[in-house]
Amino acid sequence: MSDFEGLRALVTGGASGIGRATAELLAARGARVAVLDLDPTTVGEPLLAHRADVTDDPSVRRAVAAAADGLGGLDVLVNNAGVGAQGTVEDNDDAEWHRVLDVNVLGMVRTTRAALPHLRRSAHAAIVNTCSIAATAGLPQRALYSATKGAVLSLTLAMAADHVREGIRVNCVNPGTVDTPWVGRLLDAADDPAAERAALEARQPTGRLVSAAEVAGAIAYLASPLSGATTGTALAVDGGMQGLRPRPAAR
Ligand SMILES: NC(=O)c1ccc[n+]([C@@H]2O[C@H](COP(=O)([O-])OP(=O)(O)OC[C@H]3O[C@@H](n4cnc5c(N)ncnc54)[C@H](O)[C@@H]3O)[C@@H](O)[C@H]2O)c1
Repeated sequence: MSDFEGLRALVTGGASGIGRATAELLAARGARVAVLDLDPTTVGEPLLAHRADVTDDPSVRRAVAAAADGLGGLDVLVNNAGVGAQGTVEDNDDAEWHRVLDVNVLGMVRTTRAALPHLRRSAHAAIVNTCSIAATAGLPQRALYSATKGAVLSLTLAMAADHVREGIRVNCVNPGTVDTPWVGRLLDAADDPAAERAALEARQPTGRLVSAAEVAGAIAYLASPLSGATTGTALAVDGGMQGLRPRPAAR
């Protein structure tokens, strides 16, 4: 029997990229899966789709309730919806700081708050947050984005402590640069997309971008009942970018 057989999962930002790959993987491994997204129009069977904006509390509460209703409960919440921001600390105005913190941090607060009553009724409750290497390494031109992901890392630890006695595990994944539509948009906007892609690939010791499926595999690992003793951890999925310092390849 597959490890997710009989479990019910909700994935935010599940219409694209990492969230989409995660929703599809959990479904393939036996879970019943609902997706919450700003634009879920491309999401179809076997996934259930719910439209909501994680910055809008009533829409989050409605979507989480509808997902739990449609699935018959909730065991797994993947807090993955997020947006990017570029620039140094001088480059974004207050409104942009509030907007990106609202999506990337408070968005997770809102979905978790709405999901907790359902997760408390599960025998295998797990929350996985999509964090980033930006939480653990200083990346240039990412001041605002990094601040949001640093908050996600701390929030993950605090939530893990708060809910461990309730049987709810909380972990996060820290992806490096992942080949998703998001990164595609960044590359399209670069002066020289091929050079920008090569620079991003070279930054990761594996010499390539991470795939969405590889991040989904790590999220599934943390969400699975097979990881029942793992809580309050951050799992790097970054091609070695955080932990390794290889010498440049010999020419
Ligand atoms: N791609 C990367 O290199 C990378 C690296 C590290 C971390 N991440 C994180 O992974 C997560 C997913 O990124 P991705 O690359 O798959 O991006 P993506 O743009 O392909 O997908 C993001 C999804 O989130 C949804 N979304 C955005 N704002 C929303 C909102 N307010 N309410 C509901 N849904 C919303 C979008 O509609 C989209 O479907 C993000 O949290 C991002 O910070 C990405």
